Amino acid sequence: MLWIGTSWKMNKTIGESRDYARRLAAALAEAPLPQGVQPFILPPHTSLAAVRDQLAGAPVMLGAQNAHWAKEGACTGEISMRMVADAGAQVVEMGHSERREQFGETDETVARRARAAVDLGLLPLICVGEPRSVRAAGRAERFVTEQVRVALSLLRPDEIGGALIAYEPVWAIGARGTPATPEQVAPVMDLIAEEVRRLSDGGGCHALLYGGGVDLDNAALLLRDTPADGLFVGRAAWGVDGLLQLLAIGSRHVEVAAA
Ligand code: PGA
Repeated sequence: MLWIGTSWKMNKTIGESRDYARRLAAALAEAPLPQGVQPFILPPHTSLAAVRDQLAGAPVMLGAQNAHWAKEGACTGEISMRMVADAGAQVVEMGHSERREQFGETDETVARRARAAVDLGLLPLICVGEPRSVRAAGRAERFVTEQVRVALSLLRPDEIGGALIAYEPVWAIGARGTPATPEQVAPVMDLIAEEVRRLSDGGGCHALLYGGGVDLDNAALLLRDTPADGLFVGRAAWGVDGLLQLLAIGSRHVEVAAA
């Protein structure tokens, strides 16, 4: 399965979210994707239920950008896994570099979120990636495999098959990032895959995605020349036409691979 999806981050009102979802569902109804391509979108919490209703019946996975590990309780301002599931999420993102930098996310809190997500039947989407200074020091591989090890440490080996992992080098993310080349990305992804196989007794994870600076110009190459099972996109898919064009690139990739 090739996963192509986007987090909208802190963008879109409910009305804007509904409009995107309506246009996405209509486009996919008119021109269905080939088998083997799985679109997903992660709206802000406030839009989850509206997007779920708008997407009803469309083959799009819906997810939340974050959720707390506790079942419920005195955690002012937080949203639980149960709440995002109730609002329509099937996937929960965790460990994104923006949450690590701005909101104190650590490998340990990622592990707790992953545990809670699996307990509720949600797919954890675990983001890992090294900052620029770590790459410059030649320590990217060790840094990222350690992030993966801790993030998965509260899951049993047989539960790791339910996890999505996104390799997102911090230096490639966002408007100030530098787009990564397949040559920079592939060796790290190979090592992540190896570490995940080790931790899961050979089973592997659900999918290993690449994210960070993905756009219409580099998407095909990143799919062709890295071990990615998909792409996790920010800015380039914040407009529905961007996501549809990336889905078309993913569809061509799947068709070429099948030929
Ligand atoms: P970007 O964001 O595609 O805008 O670089 C990617 C991400 O943060 O996952």
